[in-house]
Amino acid sequence: MTTLVAVGAQWGDEGKGKIVDWLAPQAQLVVRFHGGNNAGHTLVVEGEQTILHVVPAGILDPGTVNVIGPGVVVDPTVLLGELAELERRGALRDPSRVRVSGRAHLILPWHTALDKAREEAARKRAIGTTGRGIGPAYEDKVARRGIRVADLLRVEDLREAIHRVAEQKNFELVEFYRWEAVDPEHVYAQALELGRQLEPYVDHTERTLESALREGKNVLFEGAQGTFLDIDHGTYPYVTSSNCVAGAVCAGAGIGPTRIDRVLGITKAYTTRVGGGPFPTEETGALGEKLRAVGAEFGATTGRPRRCGWLDAVMLREAATVNGFTQLAINKLDVLAGMGELRIATAYRVNGKLTHEFPMTLSEIESAEPVYETHEAWAEDISSCRRYEELPDAARRYIERVEALVGVPVELISIGPGRDETISRTEPFRPA
Ligand code: GDP
Ligand code: IMO
Ligand code: MG
Repeated sequence: MTTLVAVGAQWGDEGKGKIVDWLAPQAQLVVRFHGGNNAGHTLVVEGEQTILHVVPAGILDPGTVNVIGPGVVVDPTVLLGELAELERRGALRDPSRVRVSGRAHLILPWHTALDKAREEAARKRAIGTTGRGIGPAYEDKVARRGIRVADLLRVEDLREAIHRVAEQKNFELVEFYRWEAVDPEHVYAQALELGRQLEPYVDHTERTLESALREGKNVLFEGAQGTFLDIDHGTYPYVTSSNCVAGAVCAGAGIGPTRIDRVLGITKAYTTRVGGGPFPTEETGALGEKLRAVGAEFGATTGRPRRCGWLDAVMLREAATVNGFTQLAINKLDVLAGMGELRIATAYRVNGKLTHEFPMTLSEIESAEPVYETHEAWAEDISSCRRYEELPDAARRYIERVEALVGVPVELISIGPGRDETISRTEPFRPA
């Protein structure tokens, strides 16, 4: 039995979906533990693309059970839509392959409305959220007035709960933001129907997880977003509203820290960010354009162009520290082919002072000037390589330099979006 936590080491979209899909045949359970449908995880199998927002990325492997843990915020309409689409495509024949925690909090229509109203009101200071109601849903959870998945099945109490919350939400929407009110009776009618449809999936997921571990199964935890979008460790306030780091697995799935064996950090071979906030190695000119074009860097959830720049070893070292990475995956290495000279940030200059550590405050991160080292790129297409030794010398030197700078072995290398476009240097689930 091995448990492996796979998390993003940057600002999300590192290719977690692709890696989780690749790892899934080696696991029996794949578990989401935080975030919601702000995530967009892309899987490409035999040329066919699947973008998942809530359902874990093990779903295309018929041997896995896919768990949505209590730490996730669930928009029931989005989840049911995704399940219906997977059923239609024949990828989900047995509903027991998807288990949804009854304790997961719901994203309801006022959450999405508030997310949009706030972003519009913030104008220049907007976070650039995905507009999916994630922040407002987590706020209600922490304020202890949230409505949870299991509440949809307790029809007798549901109407009163919805009216109670709606009164407060509508006050903020209408009186503060001059936004349209949400009709609680409409939400109630919808909720009854959604509850009816979700019922076959609702589960006490902590028990399911515990039984899997007791039976010696491999369990894969799928992070969403990334370390620098984490509410505590990210570039606050330009972050999401959940903990994205590996430690969040314990609370968000219901597993003790003693049960975690391995932590896989997932990074691109360069850096991207979507939404507002500081990005020290960002390239706003032609180079950024080139990375965006070659890497097809457009958001899987919102379609927004992603901001692009060089790999940042200062960030990756920080991510290795706060997550406890045991191994790294480097994705999209193919994108760097033919780029001429490659750069990696190894330190920053902050207010004239050299530092090798990721700064603590927003203003320091905003003023950080990266100190770069340069590497020659390789010219050839590497997407048909399947063994590490087949990679050009320059590509291997780049990988080995990242290992040295971060202090964590690079065990997986992705050289294309397809499931099989993956190089593995070890057995990812080997015992710790
Ligand atoms: P996630 O949110 O971390 O799962 O990542 P996204 O799916 O949002 O974004 C990653 C994008 O890169 C998707 O379009 C993937 O299909 C694509 N991708 C993943 N790995 C590779 C790779 O190694 N090479 C290339 N060219 N594309 C990749
Ligand atoms: P995956 O799982 C990239 C970003 C948004 C915004 C900030 C807050 O696909 O890597 P939110 O809607 O969460 O309140 O937005 O976080 N963001 C992501 N960026 N990938 C994601 O998920 C993201 N989820 C949220 O763009 O800057
Ligand atoms: Mg994504």
